[in-house]
Amino acid sequence: MSDYDYDVLIIGAGPGGYVAAIRAAQLGLKTACAEGRETLGGTCLNVGCIPSKAMLHASEYFEAAKGGAMAEMGIEVTPKLNLGQMHKQRIDAVGGLTKGVEFLFKKNKVDWLKGYATFKDAHSVEVNGETKTAKTVVIATGSSVTPLPGVEVDNAKGVVVDSTGALELPAVPKKMVVIGGGVIGLELGSVWRRLGAEVTVVEFLDQILPGMDADVRKEAQKIFKKQGIEFKLGTKVTGCTVKGKKATLTLEPAAGGDAETLEADCVLVSIGRKPNTDGLGLDKIGLETNKRGQIEVDGEFRTAVDGVRAIGDVIPGPMLAHKAEDEGIAVAEWIAGQTGIVNHDVIPSVVYTWPEIAGVGLTEEAAKERGAVKTSKFPMLANSRAKTNHEPDGFVKVIADAETDRVLGVWIIASVAGTMIAEAALGMEFGATSEDIAYTCHAHPTHSEAIKEAAMGVMGKPIHT
Ligand code: FAD
Ligand code: NAI
Repeated sequence: MSDYDYDVLIIGAGPGGYVAAIRAAQLGLKTACAEGRETLGGTCLNVGCIPSKAMLHASEYFEAAKGGAMAEMGIEVTPKLNLGQMHKQRIDAVGGLTKGVEFLFKKNKVDWLKGYATFKDAHSVEVNGETKTAKTVVIATGSSVTPLPGVEVDNAKGVVVDSTGALELPAVPKKMVVIGGGVIGLELGSVWRRLGAEVTVVEFLDQILPGMDADVRKEAQKIFKKQGIEFKLGTKVTGCTVKGKKATLTLEPAAGGDAETLEADCVLVSIGRKPNTDGLGLDKIGLETNKRGQIEVDGEFRTAVDGVRAIGDVIPGPMLAHKAEDEGIAVAEWIAGQTGIVNHDVIPSVVYTWPEIAGVGLTEEAAKERGAVKTSKFPMLANSRAKTNHEPDGFVKVIADAETDRVLGVWIIASVAGTMIAEAALGMEFGATSEDIAYTCHAHPTHSEAIKEAAMGVMGKPIHT
């Protein structure tokens, strides 16, 4: 009989924490999960992945009807936007999924400790005035929006908003300025552009989508520009004043120079996210964060403090739900005495714009730093399914080691890139060469044939270009 209330107590019920809790309970550990939000599922289910995809999906339909893509296929309609209904279906999607996690907690006998948790010591945590003890505590507190000094977010007012406010705008803004040309800015900027807003993205760097392959960054910007998004690259926002329902931003070239102003009905601040550690009482257990505010862990997700582990957005690595989920499974397995595996070199990332943008593994630039590479790009225009579906934009790029032919990275811009990238991740997980992919039979006509053709290109012999 253990001296602790629980074998495992997880702080935070996002995709990292809730998955860790369910897995720990499945492995026979007595498990609790503390969550301060009213509903389970964390950022991802409540204000992140799920509601953003609900708005992206719905706005895609609206644009297909309004922009002529449906008419091109012989379906003539005159759409009328019912934004209230669009928000309702978003709220319904979130409600269904967060309730689903609550059901899974009950089914697996995970205790939900309702409230924000604070450490008293490494094995005890206070939640809502009650102290609970556990042999292992897992920190899975996630991340929140990085504030931009001089640009104060007020989601209730709806003029200067963060991603949460941008999901809930009650009306389509006439002019929207997005600060930050990263994933959130491009996804949510796309939603409101499709619904009728004039969108300008102000990005500090001279290219959008940092961290992605250079070819992808260049091509993606071209496509978004064609869709009507304006870009002000190499530009920083130095201030913002709000009068009534209008914002005026002051901008300066990042390299220095003359300031200019930009007016907007809505400003979205999306310059990144920071790990959540405030209020956790890390000082009580003597745990420090690194320079980026993250909690450092070893390969078994152990922090510097015995009995305390950490996963998800609060530790280094990409801030992605599937990365947090895989770490959730792995940490539970380590705690249960098993071997938990997460291959951090093969974590796909997807931007759910139209077309989608996806990548896994190394960029060409990063791969070249390690040695000689062979690359090949196959255009979606030459893929029969994409062409038939009126989806000509994008390409598949395969990067392989010049000597061993092992695939080091795959980058895709295509309508269903997010689905296609799973094949590349699976192949890379098994150490596939480009030849392995080229000689794997792919169903016709599918977008995935473009991956096969790009792999054939690495070997110097594509068929359809
Ligand atoms: P979180 O999901 O942030 O969950 C942490 C939870 O801990 C929160 O619910 C919080 O309330 C709780 N918490 C914090 N402190 C305490 C405490 N002291 N006590 C109790 N509870 C506490 N990723 C993708 O992979 N795909 C996407 O499409 C995608 N879209 C996104 C769209 C948006 C708009 C945003 C903002 C993010 C998106 N992300 C996406 C990122 C994704 O949401 C995160 O990577 C993921 O949620 C991280 O999971 P997590 O479990 O580490 O933390
Ligand atoms: P991000 O890191 O993707 O992009 C932020 C952008 O803002 C960068 O391009 C950066 O150069 C720029 N920037 C920083 N400071 C600036 C300034 N002062 N002025 C102008 N530009 C500035 O961050 P984002 O978009 O906020 O997303 C946060 C996280 O959420 C991402 O790391 C991502 O992993 C996750 N996310 C994932 C999604 C997905 O997987 N589809 C969707 C949405 C979010």
